[in-house]
Amino acid sequence: MTAAGTAPGTVWITGAGSGIGRATALRFLRAGAVVAGTARRAETLDSLAAEAAGCTGRFHALPADLTEAAATAAVVRRIETEIGPVRLALLNAGTHRPMPGRDFSAATLRQLLEANVMTAANGIEAVLPAMLARRSGQIAIVASLAGYGGLPTAAAYGAGKAALINMAEALRLDLEGSGVAVRLVNPGFVKTPLTDRNRFPMPFLMPVEAAAARLWQALEYGRQFEIVFPWQFALIMKALRLLPYPAYFPLVRRATG
Ligand SMILES: NC(=O)c1ccc[n+]([C@@H]2O[C@H](COP(=O)([O-])OP(=O)(O)OC[C@H]3O[C@@H](n4cnc5c(N)ncnc54)[C@H](OP(=O)(O)O)[C@@H]3O)[C@@H](O)[C@H]2O)c1
Repeated sequence: MTAAGTAPGTVWITGAGSGIGRATALRFLRAGAVVAGTARRAETLDSLAAEAAGCTGRFHALPADLTEAAATAAVVRRIETEIGPVRLALLNAGTHRPMPGRDFSAATLRQLLEANVMTAANGIEAVLPAMLARRSGQIAIVASLAGYGGLPTAAAYGAGKAALINMAEALRLDLEGSGVAVRLVNPGFVKTPLTDRNRFPMPFLMPVEAAAARLWQALEYGRQFEIVFPWQFALIMKALRLLPYPAYFPLVRRATG
């Protein structure tokens, strides 16, 4: 593999305006990469561009609402024609809203599926054909450790993240030998504007710069399918995932109070 940052091609990061996406974009930019960043709020990308001015890499702001397939395709077309072929698509855009089971709302579920699943799906549809034609590229899908199993108030968020995990696993199998690598990113709690809204203790809460450094390292130099962090919380969630339901439910109940 070519040295990170100097590798030809563009790193496209969705949800680059804040949190994990923004910190990871800066990590790539400090290493000299060409980064295209997308989010709906142009001003968050402009402030990232200002911060990126001191980095060795080059940043391009391409604001769009990625729940719209046509807008997503237009962003990728611009990257491919005006900036350079997408070598890595980090499909990270998403959001979280708790939905207590007693307030179950199909509308909330639909909104979170649009924000978390369809943004990634539109991104995959947009980048995949050219990557397949070139027989090279990486697609990294940001799901969550919350996608491993049902958690309180997460019927909507968790359903979308579980869907992303399953989708990444299926694509990993289907695209074997195509030259396109599919990666799955499952974070635990990372300190971002998204988790700043949480009013409960978050075990092993990770600083966003540490999460970005881990992600950059794994995407540029690693080959593993699944990238998890922080490792302590990932280990606990992996162990819970293996348990039979009569053990899983009481343990989750006790851990989440
Ligand atoms: N933080 C954690 O602890 C944690 C844990 C597990 C998984 N994750 C996942 O990691 C990803 C990033 O989370 P974060 O904590 O960094 O959140 P964040 O700080 O809220 O950032 C989310 C980014 O996604 C963008 N976005 C949301 N909807 C979009 C849309 N429809 N089109 C384009 N961009 C959109 C937002 O910008 P605009 O609002 O301007 O569009 C923002 O830039 C999410 O997928 C989240 O589910 C986070």
